[in-house]
Amino acid sequence: MKEQDRLVSPEPVRDDSVLFQIRPETLEEFIGQPLVVKKLSIAIESARIRNEHLDHVILAGPPGLGKTTLAYIIANELNAKIHITSGPVIEKQGDLAAILTSLEEGDVLFIDEIHRLNKTIEEVLYTAMEDFAVDIMIGKGPSARSIRIDLAPFTLVGATTRMGLLSSPLRNRFGISLELDFYSEEDLKKIVLRSAKILGIGLVEEAAQEIAKRARGTPRVANRLLKRIRDFATVERKKIVDLETTKKALDILEIDEYGLDPLDRKILKVLIENYDGGPAGIKSIAASVGIEHDTISEVYEPYLLRAGFIIRTPRGRMATEKAYKLFNLKFKGTQGGLWEFNE
Ligand SMILES: Nc1ncnc2c1ncn2[C@@H]1O[C@H](COP(=O)(O)OP(=O)(O)O)[C@@H](O)[C@H]1O
Ligand SMILES: [Mg+2]
Repeated sequence: MKEQDRLVSPEPVRDDSVLFQIRPETLEEFIGQPLVVKKLSIAIESARIRNEHLDHVILAGPPGLGKTTLAYIIANELNAKIHITSGPVIEKQGDLAAILTSLEEGDVLFIDEIHRLNKTIEEVLYTAMEDFAVDIMIGKGPSARSIRIDLAPFTLVGATTRMGLLSSPLRNRFGISLELDFYSEEDLKKIVLRSAKILGIGLVEEAAQEIAKRARGTPRVANRLLKRIRDFATVERKKIVDLETTKKALDILEIDEYGLDPLDRKILKVLIENYDGGPAGIKSIAASVGIEHDTISEVYEPYLLRAGFIIRTPRGRMATEKAYKLFNLKFKGTQGGLWEFNE
């Protein structure tokens, strides 16, 4: 199965387009992440009072938690025009210079996946962010010279899933640094209820709670589950999505009570059965399961770790008691792995 086809993928997938209409448009509508919202609203309000452009903002956190949504909200709250691009699509310094010189005063430039900007292109951003200028080389060889073009003051909003991959000169040029965290069940429940209302789905509270429980702390997953459950309810001729319908749908969709899908469970099973619970390296596990090891470490592992099904040791990943219980297997302890840890 491709990541694209995975129901609980935190990444956007093909049929997510309708989810666009349920994006909150103001900070007021944005649910959860109280600290992020607070910091942003103070910064926006003060920029408004001083009548200045907002400081550059970096949004960091796992996929599906609301980075793109917040970028749009920032522009909306500032009453500013937003220009959207992403790290991997900018191929040359000139591409970025062209975007920068087209900005008007107060505009927001959103660069998604900013950690994937090529280093030489990234350097163009340094003077743009600091001095609102770009230096462009004219000509080649001995007659080459550089000219400086002034830019209109703008706000750069960068998003990244890997803050650690951002170079420090770039990171230091963001005045406002915001890290998004996984959502609580309570906040996810509010998000699901809000989405249901907008989409005209009659959803009872207990059903929203159940979806929240299985959504892996991720609004994108919660919204997607809601949509699939709605499909199920439609086919079953149910006007109201109740708890029973929700549970039935989730069973058919093979999302268990922890939000694990068949591939998650396969990874755990391989770790327990083929590697005696570990420790095992990501590459070995990936080879046994038959998927890319990058996919395991970026997509599957973060949730399995967070939900407490595996732990990380210097010798590799180990299954926890919770993982054994999932398959009704007897846990033998992690002493072996932890002992190696002490060596
Ligand atoms: N705080 C929130 N409240 C309501 N919906 C949210 C919230 N955060 C994210 N969403 C929804 O989750 C989906 C994914 O959000 P997005 O901003 O695209 O995530 P990211 O850019 O971090 O991958 C969107 O459909 C959005 O409507
Ligand atoms: Mg995004």
